[in-house]
Amino acid sequence: MDKQTIGIIGAGKLGTTLARLGTQRGFTINIGSRHSVQDLKWVIDTMAPGAVTMSTPDVIKHSDIIILAIPLSHYRDLDPAALAGKIVLDATNYWKEVDGTVNTISSMKESSSEVIQAYLQDSLVAKAFNHMGYHDIEIEVDRHPEVRRAMAYATDHDEIRPVVEAVLTQFGFDPLDLGPLRFGLYLEPGSPLFGEAIPRAEFVDKINRIYSTPFGAKILSERGQQVV
Ligand SMILES: NC(=O)c1ccc[n+]([C@@H]2O[C@H](COP(=O)([O-])OP(=O)(O)OC[C@H]3O[C@@H](n4cnc5c(N)ncnc54)[C@H](OP(=O)(O)O)[C@@H]3O)[C@@H](O)[C@H]2O)c1
Repeated sequence: MDKQTIGIIGAGKLGTTLARLGTQRGFTINIGSRHSVQDLKWVIDTMAPGAVTMSTPDVIKHSDIIILAIPLSHYRDLDPAALAGKIVLDATNYWKEVDGTVNTISSMKESSSEVIQAYLQDSLVAKAFNHMGYHDIEIEVDRHPEVRRAMAYATDHDEIRPVVEAVLTQFGFDPLDLGPLRFGLYLEPGSPLFGEAIPRAEFVDKINRIYSTPFGAKILSERGQQVV
């Protein structure tokens, strides 16, 4: 599969890391944030040489695949019409230090990426790049070239699975399909999978044991059932 142009919305720790990794791996990367192009460009030229700084509307317009790397609580700043028809890789997580101590966006009954998909109703959303810290995303790729680290993803759109898998593979990871978006809950803060940069077999083993952990018990008590 040809490398498609990737647009990153959000130019903080995760956005600049993915921009750097992507350009190093031959992707055309467009990136934007709330800052003016002029203010952001020197940061991107330093942090992710080769990535193209644009306004957020231009990032959306000129990119095939969009990665969301903004605070989850800012998702309503996104323009659903502009993102209609785009593949959107939702890397956002509810992070109470940033998004507020009480999560009024997502819950054990609805993963945050389901909320994003409902908001971006005409986009093809996949949850991806969520469970690994930005430092691990960069370091672990090159540290274990022989045993790639699992990068789990979830989506309700079967037709984009090959594209998502190609992107994750080309970024240097072993893509692990969790199924529909609701299983993205397994990747969110509080889950034993959150923060993991481990090979596929270990990751799958942890998924299989998730309902014997406190996080799994919380899913059961709040949903009344497993994610099925
Ligand atoms: N850090 C990680 O290791 C990691 C790993 C996986 C997932 N995530 C998730 O990825 C997201 C980004 O995390 P981060 O650590 O990179 O945060 P960060 O360092 O605070 O960066 C957030 C970026 O988003 C920009 N932004 C905020 N609102 C925006 C909007 N409406 N439109 C365009 N850009 C906007 C910010 O611009 P300003 O400078 O104007 O605020 C900033 O460039 C979060 O949801 C986080 O939970 C983070």
